[in-house]
Amino acid sequence: MKKTILDYDTVDLDEENNALVIIDQTKLPGSIELLKITDLKEMWDAIFLLKVRGAPAIGVAAAIGIYVEAVRLAETAKSFEEFYSGFAKARDYLDSARPTAVNLNWALSRMDEVAKRASELPLKDVLEKLHREAIEIREEDIRVCRSIGEYGLTLIKDGDGLLTHCNAGKLAAVKYGTATAPMYIGQEKGYHFRIFSDETRPLLQGARLTSFELHSAGMDVTLICDNMAGSVMRNGWVNAVFVGCDRVAANGDAANKIGTSMVAALAKQYNIPFYVCAPTSTIDMATPSGDEIRIEQRKPEEITEMWYERRMAPNGVKVYNPAFDVTDSSLITGIVTEYGIARPPYAESLERIFAKKSEEKQVK
Ligand code: MRU
Repeated sequence: MKKTILDYDTVDLDEENNALVIIDQTKLPGSIELLKITDLKEMWDAIFLLKVRGAPAIGVAAAIGIYVEAVRLAETAKSFEEFYSGFAKARDYLDSARPTAVNLNWALSRMDEVAKRASELPLKDVLEKLHREAIEIREEDIRVCRSIGEYGLTLIKDGDGLLTHCNAGKLAAVKYGTATAPMYIGQEKGYHFRIFSDETRPLLQGARLTSFELHSAGMDVTLICDNMAGSVMRNGWVNAVFVGCDRVAANGDAANKIGTSMVAALAKQYNIPFYVCAPTSTIDMATPSGDEIRIEQRKPEEITEMWYERRMAPNGVKVYNPAFDVTDSSLITGIVTEYGIARPPYAESLERIFAKKSEEKQVK
């Protein structure tokens, strides 16, 4: 049978060649090209240029990427101190590639902790531990997204119309995605959903990625321009909205792809539940509210000329191009995590989610 995008790993480690392997998402859906990256600067570029993108996938790529770099550093380092000085520089460098998705820092911090804890061991054992952690971060993502899918599925029923914004799909994670996880798990159980995918200006993650992967999976997906969401909602075609996120603050405010907050406001207008799907790795309890979330600004050409045969805006016009916006927690019906669904007031319910997480960790 012909391979589809679902048969490729979004992010992986090539053990033999010590390389980070990603699908180059800037080439989708036209061609599926795998990149094998061994160079740190190329890893940074891959994250910055959105060759690998989506909060969980960025985290996994950073974990594998810094492991690949650690192997290289260990080849010449004569002591742990020498090794760790290069490792810490690489960690900070990768961490600077994109500011909004907390998973980048979360994954690099996990790898950093492992390196520091192993400081007394020979470098080959340090590498062994870093390898284990990178693989665990990748495998964990699959389990976490599946669990989000199962909780998410309890919120909807067979035949529902669902709307999503950007790509919080398999291409944004390792498998299942977050916002798409209830759709994939529902499909496994024989459910049929009518899915609306916002095209997501300016980088078209909805058109190029979400509609591509859901269509390849054989789902009923309809692509709409961002400014059509209100119309399909008013028509009564949407029973629930599922979106992903890049960082959830302690009060439940959630940063996600630019345009998400408009969808949330529309959903409220039409009385449609609006769910944010967030692994606990995306919830940043150290950030009190959305006001403190740093929003990435990107270059004007993404709006003025990218995708067009010729420039579509006057030369010299001012452009504002934030990559993300913050959805006020008051617009969010529930935050679906791998430990259950948090409901307002989020300051308390998110605390409970983390309490459950640490209880389950202790049992293990
Ligand atoms: O700029 P991108 O494509 O990395 O933005 C991605 C999103 O906004 C996703 O919705 C978010 O990272 C969640 S992915 C599960």
